[in-house]
Amino acid sequence: MKASINSLQHHWDDAYTLKETSKLGWFEESSEPTLTIIKSCKLNKKARILNVGSGSSVLIDELVDLGFSNVIASDLSKESLKNLQNRMASKKDAVDWIVDDLTNPKVLSEIKPIDLWNDRAVLHFFTEEKDQDTYFSLLKKLVKPSGYVIISVFNTEGATKCCGLPVKRYDKGMLTEKLGSDFTLIDSFNYIYTNPYGDARPYVYTLFKKK
Ligand SMILES: C[S@@+](CC[C@H](N)C(=O)[O-])C[C@H]1O[C@@H](n2cnc3c(N)ncnc32)[C@H](O)[C@@H]1O
Repeated sequence: MKASINSLQHHWDDAYTLKETSKLGWFEESSEPTLTIIKSCKLNKKARILNVGSGSSVLIDELVDLGFSNVIASDLSKESLKNLQNRMASKKDAVDWIVDDLTNPKVLSEIKPIDLWNDRAVLHFFTEEKDQDTYFSLLKKLVKPSGYVIISVFNTEGATKCCGLPVKRYDKGMLTEKLGSDFTLIDSFNYIYTNPYGDARPYVYTLFKKK
C-alpha cells in the first residue's frame, strides 16, 4: 500500500536532514546533462523555469548564475529547499520557493504559465496511475504553447528503487505517450549517472516542445 503523503514528506525531510547533500544517492556536482539541454532551448533570461522536485539540486544555483531571473524551485520537502536556500545565501532571493505535492498540487496549480518544466528523478516515484495523471495534468496546464519540458528519469534498465522507495521506469515512448499529441519529442538519450557510492544509475533524458 502507498505511504500517506505526510509520511512521504517526513521520509524526504529525513533524507535531506540525516545526510549531507553530497552523500545523497542522486547528488550531482554539476547538473549535466540537464544544463546543456536547457541551453539548447535558447530561452530568454526572463523565461519562467519551474524545477519540480528540486531537492537541494545545484541546478538552481547554476540557473541563477546564468542570469535567469524567473526560476521557481519546488519540492515536497521543505528541508531540501531550506538546505538549498542556505547554500545560495543572498542569491536565494532571485528564486521563488514553493513547498507543494505534485500528486495533489495546491500552490503549483495556481501559478502563472511557464516556459520550461524540468524534472530530474521525480516522476519515477509516482507508481500509481492517478498520481501520474495528476502530474501530467499539471504539466499540461502550466507549460505555455511553444514551451519546453525536460523529463529525466530512471530508464527501463534502471534501478527499481531509490531512497528506499519503489520506482516506475520509463523509455522515451512511454513519456511521449503520457505527454500526448500537443508535445513533440525534440531529443532523447540514455545516460548513466554514477552516484556518490559508485553505483551506476541509468536514466533516460527527454526534451519535448509544446505545439
Ligand atoms: C531523487 S530526488 C531528486 C532531487 C533533484 N531533482 C535532483 O536532481 O537532485 C527526488 C525529489 O523529489 C521530491 N519529491 C518526492 N515526492 C514528491 C511529490 N509528491 N511532490 C513534490 N516533490 C516530491 C523529493 O523530496 C526529492 O527532493
